Amino acid sequence: MQLGLGLGHRVAATPSGGALEAEGPNGMDRRRRIFLLGTGFVARHVSIPLLQQGWHVSGTCTTSLKKNQLRTVGIDAHLFDANRHKLTELETLRDASHVLVSIPPAYGIGDPLLNLHHDLHPLLNYGNLQWLCYLSSTSVYGDCGGTWVDEDYPVNPRTESAKSRYEAEKGWTNFGLSLGLSTFIFRLGGIYGPGRSALDTLMRRKDLSENQKRRDSRDFYYTARVHVADICQTILSSIANPYLGKIYNVVDDDPAPRAEVFAFARDLISRRYPEMVSDFNHVSLGDVQAIIGEKCVSNTRMKEELGVQLIYPSYKSGLQSIFDSWSSSL
Ligand SMILES: NC(=O)c1ccc[n+]([C@@H]2O[C@H](COP(=O)([O-])OP(=O)(O)OC[C@H]3O[C@@H](n4cnc5c(N)ncnc54)[C@H](OP(=O)(O)O)[C@@H]3O)[C@@H](O)[C@H]2O)c1
Repeated sequence: MQLGLGLGHRVAATPSGGALEAEGPNGMDRRRRIFLLGTGFVARHVSIPLLQQGWHVSGTCTTSLKKNQLRTVGIDAHLFDANRHKLTELETLRDASHVLVSIPPAYGIGDPLLNLHHDLHPLLNYGNLQWLCYLSSTSVYGDCGGTWVDEDYPVNPRTESAKSRYEAEKGWTNFGLSLGLSTFIFRLGGIYGPGRSALDTLMRRKDLSENQKRRDSRDFYYTARVHVADICQTILSSIANPYLGKIYNVVDDDPAPRAEVFAFARDLISRRYPEMVSDFNHVSLGDVQAIIGEKCVSNTRMKEELGVQLIYPSYKSGLQSIFDSWSSSL
């Protein structure tokens, strides 16, 4: 998806009311400056098409090693730990036209940006910000007994982390409103993609402790997941339609229990590498009729309003593509 200048953005103005030029010094387009608060798995993936399209991409990470890696690929990377550093150290944040938040809530703190950094509002209220997106989780729905849930379904966060996720959603929505923006809240299913999938977990499994290998009844509950490429296309679509900001579930079409996904991944691997089957014997589909919990998350709003056509509608096509991309020298 090509993201041009016709983004339907709000008219940029300084706090004193003066209009900002679309073009900054050195010909830099002020409307295509994204700041990634947390340049993790998703943000790193979404930076690729944006950099290719000439966006200025800034982002944060918590280690110098990663900062150097991000700089190598063209990201204006900054070291930032929300518990230790000041936002004012992030020089380009004030100029951002777009902000993607992927730093998760922290235990005992909640959302570290909203709760520890009260200078965030004045920093982003400079007038250039047109789009704000918070990456949330389908965990806010809690266990819905396996039923289908859409964005209007009452949330029921049970765990501490799901509760703080829901508080963060509300916080970012209100934060956006205070800046005159409708925040995109993307409730992501379990994220997978190249380097982070059931296939990768199985290949690493020999290194896991017996405790980590132990199955849990939740392996048989319906859960949502989504391939990182589909998250990226949803983010790009929201950038192209900034006036549509609201809550969206970002999940694939095929909610399935974890045990089923792992059985599929195991079969893929063992068909090409039969000698490895014995390593994976402990991962079996087992008693699937025991499925009674969690939820099937609907993606209708994402498709109808953001026009997303899933590249990987099921974990099957997603895992197959990851598997096909592996080199034969495995
Ligand atoms: N994993 C899932 O299946 C799943 C499902 C639903 C929602 N989510 C949520 O969706 C969001 C995006 O997911 P993701 O997989 O891209 O996340 P991720 O790879 O874990 O990235 C999280 C980012 O936040 C940064 N970060 C963490 N704690 C921080 C702190 N105290 N101060 C500053 N930065 C901090 C990390 O820094 P470093 O880069 O230095 O590590 C990283 O850049 C996250 O909030 C995640 O929790 C995840």
